[in-house]
Amino acid sequence: MDFQLTEEHKMIEKMVYDFTRKEILPVIKEFDRSHTYPMEITRRLGELGFMGICLPARYGGAGMDYISMGIISEGLEYGDSSVRETVAVHLALHILPIFQWGTEEQKQTFLPPLATGEKLACFGLTEPNVGSDVAGMQSTARKEGGDYILNGEKMWITLADVADRFLVFAKTDPGQGSRGITAFILERGWDGVTTGSIEGKMGVHASNTGWINMSDVRVPVSHRLGEEGEGFKIAMGALDNARYAVASGSVGIIKACLDASVRYAKERPAFGKPIAAYQLVQQMIANMQQRLDIAQLLAWKAGWLKNQGVRNTRETSMAKWYNTEAARQSADEAVQIHGAYGYSDEYDVERHLRNSKGAVIYEGTSQIHTLVQAAYAMGDRVDKPLRCELPAYDPEYWTEER
Ligand code: CAA
Repeated sequence: MDFQLTEEHKMIEKMVYDFTRKEILPVIKEFDRSHTYPMEITRRLGELGFMGICLPARYGGAGMDYISMGIISEGLEYGDSSVRETVAVHLALHILPIFQWGTEEQKQTFLPPLATGEKLACFGLTEPNVGSDVAGMQSTARKEGGDYILNGEKMWITLADVADRFLVFAKTDPGQGSRGITAFILERGWDGVTTGSIEGKMGVHASNTGWINMSDVRVPVSHRLGEEGEGFKIAMGALDNARYAVASGSVGIIKACLDASVRYAKERPAFGKPIAAYQLVQQMIANMQQRLDIAQLLAWKAGWLKNQGVRNTRETSMAKWYNTEAARQSADEAVQIHGAYGYSDEYDVERHLRNSKGAVIYEGTSQIHTLVQAAYAMGDRVDKPLRCELPAYDPEYWTEER
């Protein structure tokens, strides 16, 4: 057992935290206040290689492993959830499913401009009437000649109004439940594809959240990902990746809340002493440290399993469930330690509290993960081998140029 980060991981960690301190933290409050998506930060994520960090070089990626994706998720969310969300949606929910399930031709066509950040991509699963119950989706795809005709609406989609490409899911065989869903890659600008933004969210104001409408969209078979009926598995596999990014990002939130709380508690006097001297404040700081240590281990374990090519649906679900709740509780306590200042946006902890509430809802609510964990514990849920597994990390293959 080895709990050490490698030299390469340490280099990535330094790179991402430097980026967050120099290029996210000084500006993010204004983006959050104005509810503006920071396109310039997204462009920089591409330049730094973060948008395709764990993709092999032959497809335009940075050739690093899955743990590196966790490290950058953590470092970016130390700054703000919105920036981590951009990488998670683009990389974990769009690039990696194509890498896992795509034909060689699809990988060569679709991946390089995404891996470099030249094009931005997202994932459309949730619908106005369907969130947790994925198999109940209402979008349809009917075969016409060699093409598919898609109709339906996707809602609460991160990057919907700024992405160039969309990985969407629709029913090709509505009578078949989860086995009747198929995955498709759509392009902005196609007839019948329209998007819009959703206003009025509680948090992640510097991210774009919106809807995708599909009205008689003609999709060539070259843009179908996987076989007909494999869409549910493709979506769940994608969520195994994105939940790992969310879990790792939550480590960043806990760290940010702990750092800010320790700093503030040592500076802020009350009754003649810094508030850090009071045990009720120390209790909250110790809680954060305890959650940080547990959350870090859960995230690393999920990343390590991905590197080995071992199915990690259970471990990733556990990390997502625990870490997002831990981040929300830590942000709440950090606001409490900061008192009235914490309740204003003068300090970052208020933003972390609003942002962290989103993560206990998206990518599977805490209630869904509770049920999933109970089903694993009672032996009612067993992972079956897939036709295409996410490949194990192989440094030689990952770094070899084509
Ligand atoms: N990978 C691959 N295949 C999987 C899988 C996985 N992780 N999980 C399940 N499957 C397979 C199963 O093996 C099963 O296969 P067979 O048909 O061959 O038997 C099939 O998929 C059906 O699986 P289940 O029976 O387990 O499905 P279920 O109905 O019991 O449970 C659920 C499903 C756990 C409730 C699931 O629907 C779920 O996780 N819901 C939450 C959805 C979610 O997270 N939504 C967030 C959307 S993304 C987002 O938030 C927007 C954004 O932009 C960030």
